[in-house]
Amino acid sequence: MNREPRADESGEFHAASQAQPNIALVKYWGKRDAALNLPAVGSISITLDSLWTRTDVRFVPGQKHDRVSLNGRSDEAEAKRVTACLDLLRQRAAVDWGADVASQNNFPTAAGLASSASGFAALVHAGAQALGLELSLAEQSVLARRCSGSAARSIFGGYVEWAHGRLADGTDSVAQPLLAAEAWPLRVAVAITSKAAKQVGSSEGMRRTAQTSPYQSAWVDTQEADLSTARSAILARDFDALAQISEYSCLKMHALAMAAQPGLLYWNGATVECMHRVRALRQQGLPVFFTVDAGPQLKAVCEPAAIEQVKAALRDVPGVLDVLDTGLGAGARAMPVGALEA
Ligand code: DP6
Repeated sequence: MNREPRADESGEFHAASQAQPNIALVKYWGKRDAALNLPAVGSISITLDSLWTRTDVRFVPGQKHDRVSLNGRSDEAEAKRVTACLDLLRQRAAVDWGADVASQNNFPTAAGLASSASGFAALVHAGAQALGLELSLAEQSVLARRCSGSAARSIFGGYVEWAHGRLADGTDSVAQPLLAAEAWPLRVAVAITSKAAKQVGSSEGMRRTAQTSPYQSAWVDTQEADLSTARSAILARDFDALAQISEYSCLKMHALAMAAQPGLLYWNGATVECMHRVRALRQQGLPVFFTVDAGPQLKAVCEPAAIEQVKAALRDVPGVLDVLDTGLGAGARAMPVGALEA
C-alpha cells in the first residue's frame, strides 16, 4: 500500500530495527530471475536468537546520497547494496531522500554466518518504519528477498519456509512461518573455523553453478521432495527425520557447487572435521546434525539437552577458533532509535 511519508513525533523519518540471521535446513541455491532475485528452489530455515543485526535508518529530506556505516566502518560494495535496497522503499513512498544508515552485527560478517539475511531484513524493517510505510510482514519479506534472498526468511522467527513462487513478478515468492521457535526450541552451536570474508559471494557462486554445474537440473528437480520431507519432520517435531533431510540438502548443495567450473569449495579442513565429529556424536545417540552455508562455519543443530556436549566436542576439533551457542528466535522487530546512529 502506498502512503505519504510521515515523520515521527520529533519531525524525523527515523527508525531502528533488529533482525537475526537464519540458517537454511533445506538450502536456497540458484535463481530463476536475477533481477527480481527469484529463487530457482524453495527453502526452509530456522531463525536464530542471540546473533543479531541492529540497524538505524534516518531519511533526510533534501539529502542526495545515502551514508552507510557497517560496524562503524564504510564499505563501498555493501553501501551499493544498501542503496539499491533503500531505492525499493523510496519508490514505494515516492520520495528521493538520501538516508543515514548505521548497522551493527554482534557476529563475524560475510563469512557464511548469514549477515546479509539479518542485515537486509533489519534494513527493510527499519526503512519501512522510518518512511511510515505500513507494510505487512509478507510485503516486507518480498522486499527483503529482492535485497538478498535469504533475508526474506529473517523477517519471520522460528521455522520458516520461503516459497519458490510461480508469478513472473515474484509477489508470491515470499516467506511464511511454519512453526514457532517455542514450539520446538532446538539449539544451535556454531563452530567458527575462519574469520576471513568468503572469496566467492553467494550471488556469484549461484551464477557460476547454474552456468557450469552438470547437476543443476537434478538439484532443482529434487527440491520439492526435500521441502515436503522437511516440512513434515518439522510439523511432527521428528528430530531424526529433520537430521537426515538437513544433512542431505546441505551436502547436495555443496556437491552441486563443487561441480561448478571452477569448483566452489567453501569448506576448510576444520569444517570437514566438524562434520565427522557431529556424525560420531549422533552415532553415539546424541540428537545432533550439521549444516554448512556458503562459508567454512559449521552449524550443529541439537536438542537442548545435548548442547553442552556438542559445544565441548566442537571446541575440541583442531582449527575451531570459537563456538557460539544460540537458540531459535523471533523475526524482525522495532528497536528504540538513537542507540546506533551514524
Ligand atoms: C548457502 O541469500 O546470501 O546460505 O540472494 O544472492 O543475496 P543472495 O544470496 P544469499 O544466499 C544464501 C545461500 C545459502 C543457503 C540459504 O541460506 O538458503
